[in-house]
Amino acid sequence: MSIKTAILNGVATIEIARPEKKNALTVAMYQAMSDALRAAAADSAVRAVLITGQPGIFTSGNDIEDFMSRPPGQGGSNALDSPVFQFMLALLECDKPVVAAVTGAAIGIGTTMLLHCDFVYVSDEARLAMPFVSLGLVPEYASSLLVPQLMGHVRAAEKLLLGEPFTPEQAVEYAIANAVLPAGEVVNHARRIAERFNQLPPGAVQQAKQLLRGPQRELIVETIRREGEIFAKRLRSPEAMEAFQAFFQKRKPDYSKF
Ligand code: COA
Repeated sequence: MSIKTAILNGVATIEIARPEKKNALTVAMYQAMSDALRAAAADSAVRAVLITGQPGIFTSGNDIEDFMSRPPGQGGSNALDSPVFQFMLALLECDKPVVAAVTGAAIGIGTTMLLHCDFVYVSDEARLAMPFVSLGLVPEYASSLLVPQLMGHVRAAEKLLLGEPFTPEQAVEYAIANAVLPAGEVVNHARRIAERFNQLPPGAVQQAKQLLRGPQRELIVETIRREGEIFAKRLRSPEAMEAFQAFFQKRKPDYSKF
């Protein structure tokens, strides 16, 4: 199984563990993460959730092979019922604090999921990137709304239109992350933050978390749906096909004919 889950000392840990594919997320992994988040939300013994990856890699984003062979909305099904969207909603709806330990590269949804966590600690060896357009796709997970809010339009354009990677220090500057930590310390630090919720009243924590996102929650869900409909269509576009084939053929995509 490429998602490991455990509950220890009030913290439900969701560990992405597919290092041989740089922790790329498959349909089954989204389903497992979504189930783990819903179970954590329902378990009164869990006071916080920790999402983490492997040394050197948090996640390289959606599995590109799945994008090609099992895209959301396949066979006329509603793309928004697919495991990736179920994961997005489960994280958004989790009313317990979610702490991310970004152990290494965070690409695509590896970065956009951080926009929906409550605490984000990043390894000093990590790189973050949202290369959706480079793949013939469009921003997802409400990043088209939240990234410009966080860093302003012109810097968001660098990250979301050009797909420029950015450093952990920049992630802190843009308020995507709380702090940069040495690679060997990031998971333990994040776990200590999560464990602090064992000393706090859980009802107040949950209601406070709901209030923090409250005014924007509906807009975020609406944006996820709007982006998702365009994203699902773009997955079938010739531009995206060229990008995916180029990735597996280990060459640069050629968009000159489009
Ligand atoms: N989907 C499917 N397979 C992936 C993957 C992904 N998102 N990311 C990495 N892999 C696979 C590679 O195909 C390779 O498989 P192979 O050993 O069978 O050839 C293996 O994981 C190792 O990846 P590789 O690219 O050789 O590692 P690297 O250290 O040179 O680079 C990354 C690491 C993360 C920078 C690079 O793999 C990458 O850019 N991945 C794609 C990121 C992306 O565009 N994600 C989608 C965002 S929407």
